[in-house]
Amino acid sequence: MTEKQEIDRAAAAKKPVIELKGICKTFDRRVVLDDVSLAIEEGKTTVIIGPSGCGKTVLIKHLICLLRPTAGEIYFRDQRIDHLSERALGAIRTHYGFLFQAGALFDSQTVFQNIVFPIRQHRRETDMSELEQIVKAKLAMVGLDGFQNYYPANLSGGQRKRVALARAIAMDPEIILYDEPTTGLDPIRSGIINELVLKLQRELSVTSVVVTHDMNSAYKIADRIIMLHNGMIVADGDADTIRNHPHPTVQQFIHGEVSDEDLAVLRMSGKGAQSQFSPQDFDPRSP
Ligand SMILES: Nc1ncnc2c1ncn2[C@@H]1O[C@H](COP(=O)(O)OP(=O)(O)OP(=O)(O)O)[C@@H](O)[C@H]1O
Ligand SMILES: [Mg+2]
Repeated sequence: MTEKQEIDRAAAAKKPVIELKGICKTFDRRVVLDDVSLAIEEGKTTVIIGPSGCGKTVLIKHLICLLRPTAGEIYFRDQRIDHLSERALGAIRTHYGFLFQAGALFDSQTVFQNIVFPIRQHRRETDMSELEQIVKAKLAMVGLDGFQNYYPANLSGGQRKRVALARAIAMDPEIILYDEPTTGLDPIRSGIINELVLKLQRELSVTSVVVTHDMNSAYKIADRIIMLHNGMIVADGDADTIRNHPHPTVQQFIHGEVSDEDLAVLRMSGKGAQSQFSPQDFDPRSP
């Protein structure tokens, strides 16, 4: 290989898989994302942290165009996707697996039916024995082979998360987006999910983007950590960069300290201050 070819190959390898350029998102004139630019590197695990309500879920949904930006551009491998029709986006989304914040399994369907759902959506011709093999392989990946005929209600919270993960990898995605995969799990089950994220990256070379509140998990799995605050990226770097970050907001967040800003909101509550909580925070079905 010539020197130029090598340089070209290195440049191609560094090209982002997904890129957000100057993304702004407002809901009813309330700014949630404020000029966010972010390039997601192939084969790496990027972790997004930040206080509740700062826009992490809104950001991760933009990576797959489940939300469209108010301004800015979204690219998937050099193709601009924020203007595509839902139908065209459907084809792009087959490259992604998405683990939603609430797990969102279909309660009336078995584990097997839950996992074949995305496969049936995208592929017409699939014979039963092929489907059985795919489901078995995906469940084995998350350590749950044998649970095919269980209903979600008969699984623990951690098992449900793992079934949701098996479903997210059903289509062999290149990119997996995880929104709070360890929330509501005890440290042992959180550890299992962390190991799975690492295993999928190692064995399937997937690109992962993980939203989490859990700093232990962030330090364990991240190649890169991004902190979002008030709709802007305030820190971006590897675990050590974040641990030693000079920004007081970053230090308060990673050490779980209550900021003056949070205290002011609490003191104001009941006096017309806007609540940080939404009704779904109190939904008993949320994990
Ligand atoms: N579809 C929507 N319509 C209106 N406002 C929304 C919508 N989705 C999100 N928001 C608002 O955007 C803000 C950011 O929400 P988001 O769900 O991204 O927060 P988050 O950082 O993921 O919080 P958490 O850590 O609690 O999950 C919140 O104030 C939320 O109310
Ligand atoms: Mg969220």
